[in-house]
Amino acid sequence: MNELNTVNDAAAKPVRTLPDAQTVTEVTHWTDRLFSFRVSRPQSLRFRSGEFVMIGLLDERGKPLLRAYSIASPSWDEELEFYSIKVPDGPLTSKLQHIQPGNEIILRPKPVGTLVLDALLPGKRLWFLATGTGIAPFASLMRDPETYEKYEQVIMMHTCRTVAELEYGRQLVESLRDDPLIGEFVGDKLKYYPTTTREESARMGRITDNLTSGKVFADLGIAPMDKDHDRAMVCGSLAFNHDVKAVLEGFGLREGANSEPQEYVVEKAFVGDGI
Ligand code: FAD
Ligand code: A2P
Repeated sequence: MNELNTVNDAAAKPVRTLPDAQTVTEVTHWTDRLFSFRVSRPQSLRFRSGEFVMIGLLDERGKPLLRAYSIASPSWDEELEFYSIKVPDGPLTSKLQHIQPGNEIILRPKPVGTLVLDALLPGKRLWFLATGTGIAPFASLMRDPETYEKYEQVIMMHTCRTVAELEYGRQLVESLRDDPLIGEFVGDKLKYYPTTTREESARMGRITDNLTSGKVFADLGIAPMDKDHDRAMVCGSLAFNHDVKAVLEGFGLREGANSEPQEYVVEKAFVGDGI
């Protein structure tokens, strides 16, 4: 049995009998390592933009194989969108990467997470700092009117190794200004600062370096970060999160949580690359 058959079997047969099955409506492959997909949304699912849920497929023995996934769509969207890595030998994504419209996935409707607007004290500028698939929660927050109601300026810094890996975020940001639903909220409040680190492009460098050197402030013609006005949300690998936290603390920002809002919040984009 090849991989595709395994997935189709898993998606088509037993999942349908589970109460948490949702139907795939759209799949887009961005690179050989990245894809996004949309699924039907359970009617009862309410979530705050930036939260994550557990999604997955049935394994060969008919048991749910679930992983945490940030919801990339905004809370007002009638479907749910996800942005995913393809790990070649990953238990879930080696199979999930083959889903097609009409297939079903499991989605546990219990959203949680720290990358929510409520976990930050009021401020003027909001920074989204992401590497790789860490842009997913911000794909949701960038499309939420509340983000622009609460902040005068929103800055999306996204860094990947190559230009192709930025494409999902680039197309999303480009679509916002003319979006009939969210466009008027976004206006000119959103600044996008994509960089690459291992391929030549218009803007380069790690987020940590571009913040500490002041390059991003100079390039965007804005004031440096300060704890009275700036708020930040961070989502990347453990090493990235660790290093960005030190940079933000250097600007005087403190880490917050749902239970105790402060100036910045952090979420892992994935686990498994210890520091
Ligand atoms: P796993 O056994 O889970 O992972 C194998 C290895 O692949 C890991 O050890 C790690 O080195 C690497 N890896 C896993 N995920 C990623 C990734 N996203 N980027 C780069 N390397 C990775 N993944 C997404 O693709 N999109 C999301 O929106 C997303 N949101 C998450 C939110 C949270 C809070 C957490 C904790 C994880 C999130 N993940 C996300 C990671 C996801 O849960 C799985 O790890 C991923 O789908 C791979 O599953 P797997 O079973 O194929 O491999
Ligand atoms: P670099 O190419 O300099 O390592 P990865 O694909 O390894 O998850 O990395 C995604 C992006 O995040 C890359 O551009 C990488 O830059 C950057 N990155 C990785 N680790 C860190 C870190 N500790 N601090 C800042 N940026 C990082």
